[in-house]
Amino acid sequence: MNARPDSASAPILLSDYRAPAWQVEQIELDFDLGIDATQVRSCLRLRRDSTQATPLCLDGEGLELLTIMLDGQLLSPDDYRYADNVLEIDHAHDGSVLETRVRLNPAANTALEGLYLSGPRESGFLLTQCEAQGFRHITFFPDQPDVLASYTVTLRADRARFPVLLAGGNPDGAGDLDGGRHWARFVDPHPKPSYLFALVAGRLEKIGREYVTADGRPVQLVIWAEADAIERCHYAMDALERSMRWDEQAYGRNYDLDVFHVVATHDFNMGAMENKGLNIFNAKYLLADPDSTTDDEYRAVEAVVAHEYFHNWSGNRVTCRDWFQLSLKEGLTVFREQQFSADMNSPALKRIEDVALLRRAQFPEDAGPLAHPVRPAEYREINNFYTATVYEKGSELVRMLAGRLGQAGFRRGMDRYFEHNDGHAATLEDFLGALGEANDIDLMPYLAWYGQAGTPRMKARGHYDAAQHSYTLTLTQHTLPTPGQAHKRALPIPVKLALFATDGRMLPLHLDGHSNALGDEHVIVLEQAEQSFVFRNIDAAPIPSLLRGFSAPVILDGDYAPTELALLLRHDIDGFNRWEAAQQLASRAYDALRDGGDTTALTAWCDALAELFDDELFADDALLADLLSPPGEIELAEREQVVDPARVHALRQELQQRLGARIGAGPLLRRYEALAAQTNRQLDASSQAQRRLKRRVLELLALIDAPAAHAVAAGQYQDAPSMTDRLAALAVLVRGNAPQATLALAHFRERYAGDPLALDKWFSVQTQLPGELTLARVQLLAGDPAFTLKNPNRVNALFGAWARSNPAGFHRADGAGYRWLVQQLRPLDALNPQVAARLATVLNGWKRLEPVRREAARSAISSLTTGPELSRNLTEIVQNILG
Ligand code: PHE
Ligand code: ZN
Repeated sequence: MNARPDSASAPILLSDYRAPAWQVEQIELDFDLGIDATQVRSCLRLRRDSTQATPLCLDGEGLELLTIMLDGQLLSPDDYRYADNVLEIDHAHDGSVLETRVRLNPAANTALEGLYLSGPRESGFLLTQCEAQGFRHITFFPDQPDVLASYTVTLRADRARFPVLLAGGNPDGAGDLDGGRHWARFVDPHPKPSYLFALVAGRLEKIGREYVTADGRPVQLVIWAEADAIERCHYAMDALERSMRWDEQAYGRNYDLDVFHVVATHDFNMGAMENKGLNIFNAKYLLADPDSTTDDEYRAVEAVVAHEYFHNWSGNRVTCRDWFQLSLKEGLTVFREQQFSADMNSPALKRIEDVALLRRAQFPEDAGPLAHPVRPAEYREINNFYTATVYEKGSELVRMLAGRLGQAGFRRGMDRYFEHNDGHAATLEDFLGALGEANDIDLMPYLAWYGQAGTPRMKARGHYDAAQHSYTLTLTQHTLPTPGQAHKRALPIPVKLALFATDGRMLPLHLDGHSNALGDEHVIVLEQAEQSFVFRNIDAAPIPSLLRGFSAPVILDGDYAPTELALLLRHDIDGFNRWEAAQQLASRAYDALRDGGDTTALTAWCDALAELFDDELFADDALLADLLSPPGEIELAEREQVVDPARVHALRQELQQRLGARIGAGPLLRRYEALAAQTNRQLDASSQAQRRLKRRVLELLALIDAPAAHAVAAGQYQDAPSMTDRLAALAVLVRGNAPQATLALAHFRERYAGDPLALDKWFSVQTQLPGELTLARVQLLAGDPAFTLKNPNRVNALFGAWARSNPAGFHRADGAGYRWLVQQLRPLDALNPQVAARLATVLNGWKRLEPVRREAARSAISSLTTGPELSRNLTEIVQNILG
């Protein structure tokens, strides 16, 4: 299945884009479905752009070509050429009808791209995945997103083996055929790109609900899953209904077909897929019940259900002109989902979660050899560009635009964007253009953010002039070079700010150049490399609260005294900003521990948090849990010139120990018991908050009194009414290498033996063993009969969790971790190039490691460049990482 171009094959360039010479007006597809052999007949009605003389070229990969007919004539091999995954056909003209027949083998498709089998051959079902370029694995087609066609799809199959037949669009008939077979037809009235095509066939159960859109359309909502999972789909159904209502209210967007199908599979490369009218989900993001799903996972299910649903407008009705514009649909849809989740839950907690993810996943990407702009200028394998940069940074860019326009202005702009581009394949220029035109504002300066990689560093320096009663804030920006971009320009950086007096009051803002007072919060925009802003009528040196709500994705160097951060932590009214002050203070405390000497920051951090911990008026348990968590090891490593992951881990542990000791074992235990007295399995915000804080308190306790914490954790494990409590307790036991861990793990394994998603957690949690113990455990688990390289969730649960979430356990000084991971990449790549390439990105940061690990990592990665050829996916990642 692997693509085997020579590794020097030319990249695809944004600057080479040309509108397609051939369009497909209509496609009729007929499938004769079988596990080992499926026949596909496709009938294309072609339109030709008369200004271009290009011959008809169709993409097709791994297809067994049976016949080709052009306008009713069977073609002989003289009339076409099929080489290098392109079928070139002579004599086609405007209005021609091209019919091809091909044969596929779904059971042999381990790459999970195109048509494949999910589950065992006797009982599994067939499904498709076409984004980005999977459709060419199903039939011959101009497989690019700017070719929009109307689809009519007929499925035929054995009724007993494939009782359920589904494709995108509206149902258009079904019936019996001879020999125990049956058929079903679907017609999609909305022209769409090939990446949104989908079909599903097999033994599936369903739950259904009737929904009426705001504009009066009755819609059948149906969720499909295998029999053992269908009862775990109700939460997703509720989330779907909430998403549909929200998009009507927040964006005026209604659903546009008579049916909306959602299908769960355990075999999926990504999170989920927004196929028109037939979303397909990784079961991890669809199934939920208290016994096997954590609170975080519940929120993820709600978020992904919403994300895929929102794509129906941001992605499907308005799609992308080419794959360089991927963030047009992904960044925008992530942003829409973030707004939705904020509305459904706590806005502050959602923002904290999203910024933490950006810093953990995107900032390191932007600072390493895989850095690329939100709109890349070139790629070799598009599947390698479904990245945190395109998704998460892309969402931050939309957030900046939305902030610039204000709520009403952004809505006006979005209405215009959807209306003007409906049914079209659009670009980021179309997006910025529509938002700007609807508001008479030129947003094109923000385009620079889309083309420039790297996280800007912004420095803020304040100067108070007592004689003038003025405060001058000087902001500078600087972005380090990234691969292929030596020189960076200044970007427009919106900085939402407030000024605090030392008693914790917010000061009214009188900004030079503005005749009116601005209230107590305002957005200034840094447009140049350096700019100063002067505030008047200030009676004493203020403390600036900058980048409120994280108004721009930059790294801020704020030059604060620890006491100033402590003041913001105590007094800021915005939950996100309090957390941010705590994060900054914790980072300074970390620096203090590392460098020795001045411990002001460490003391200020511990004191401020201990005070909050004791404050009976501070009632937000979930926020308290987040405030008590310093930045993770990956974020802290970003502060280092040269990274020693073991040392980062040790310092962070010590940091938390200091905090735990400052609060005290007694108060921690009492707080734990008070929280534990409320234990339940409800999903409301305060029950979730109780579990979140209980977990954090237990973790801190484990660092200062391990035996006591382990005894408590063992009890919590046994009595836990929900997966959240059970897994939290298990993690504390495993991380502490507690004697009770062995029994608990054995119990968990047995209890969840039949539940793949829960079993994934059993694998993941064990990768969190500390330090030198980890590798041997991971190796042992890789030999477990339940482990398989064929299932992406299982691979990520073991290798991904180890390499990403336990840096100290992965980055062994002797390099054994790197060597062993790299050895797994080859067989994985032979099965599933997308999963192998994504896993390989964990080595992204090797150049900044201390010399011994750096050399070990370099040599391990380099070993992939010799020997049998790798997939295009993995080749590109390895080449770029080595740089
Ligand atoms: N478009 C999907 C999403 O974000 C992601 C995806 C990409 C899924 C490629 C499968 C393959 O919503
Ligand atoms: Zn998406």
